[in-house]
Amino acid sequence: MNMQTQVLHTSPAELRLAADIIRNGGLVGLPTETVYGLGANGLDPAAVEKIFIAKGRPQDNPLILHIAEAAQLRDYCHSIPETAWTLAERFWPGPLTMVLPVRDVVPKTTTANLDTVAMRCPQTPATREIIRLAGVPIAAPSANLSGKPSTTTAAHVLHDMDGKIDAIVDGGPCRVGVESTIVDLTGDRPRLLRPGGVTPEQLLAVLGDLVIDKAVTAQISNDAVVRAPGMKYKHYAPAAEVIIVSGSREGAAAYIRRNFSAGSHVLCFEEELPLFEGLPTTAYGREDAPETLSAGLFAALRALDVPGVQRIFARCPEGGGIAYAVQNRLRKSAGFHIVNGDTE
Ligand code: TXA
Ligand code: MG
Repeated sequence: MNMQTQVLHTSPAELRLAADIIRNGGLVGLPTETVYGLGANGLDPAAVEKIFIAKGRPQDNPLILHIAEAAQLRDYCHSIPETAWTLAERFWPGPLTMVLPVRDVVPKTTTANLDTVAMRCPQTPATREIIRLAGVPIAAPSANLSGKPSTTTAAHVLHDMDGKIDAIVDGGPCRVGVESTIVDLTGDRPRLLRPGGVTPEQLLAVLGDLVIDKAVTAQISNDAVVRAPGMKYKHYAPAAEVIIVSGSREGAAAYIRRNFSAGSHVLCFEEELPLFEGLPTTAYGREDAPETLSAGLFAALRALDVPGVQRIFARCPEGGGIAYAVQNRLRKSAGFHIVNGDTE
């Protein structure tokens, strides 16, 4: 499939054009505050099918359905608990996705045959306007080739999707930079399936209870039955091997220098740049401002996804807040390969 991918901006006429393409069964790259999405009419199985083909995405990995306002939850979900309305009021529009029981109007292609659906109301006004104009909920995974780091600029989307999708709406770089927080509200207790821009602390403050799913903290085997089907696949990974080097700055720098060879590259915090002088090094943000790490991580991983970079020694933030989401993505891109620079 090879088509001309139109690059659109956010004028009213261009938003209308994007909405028309979606209503007519096409694919559009969409800006959100988290990452770019690859959007299609979430109620049209043939349109949704095209998303899986363009991304090379496994069929058993369900999509998030994007709506323009919380009230639309009732159209696509049933048995909605009070906590869902509370979370929507507090965090929507914004980087939070809620898993809820799905109504029959949502096709099986969108939910990968689950009896639940992941729902999100994104913050970016242009994309909410497109949803409104299209008059349908938009199914949208991250707009990257399956397995690769997510896209946080229109240029990233074109790199992966040019010629495979009808259009991309360029809304500039994504503010948060990692995908939305996913919380499953269908069990006895609320369960965090993926950390993101809404932090575990923020969720806990509203919910009073939160289980961290094991898919967040450990590698899940490919044949496992899991609540977040997407979490078992290799993710966010450049072609190079990624190794996280933990421990003190000095210990990590010494470990990296001892193990550095041709084709190696350092991915670190800006504060650490002086420690790696003379080595090919990329800083993805400041450790003392973790929102810069989330905003910069995927762009850095994508820039290092080039021939010649075979091994990436990465520094990873610790702690809660948005750093918890950055740590999750980096650990996944490393396949949970972590060494301690102070002791190894
Ligand atoms: O920030 C985001 O959420 C972005 C933007 C575009 O909105 N979207 C995104 O979609 O990250 P995607 O497809 O890359 O990740 C969605 C994740 C997958 O891991 C998928 O398995 C999980 O959500 N998911 C979808 N529906 C689910 C459901 N019913 N139950 C559990 N997990 C679900
Ligand atoms: Mg994704």
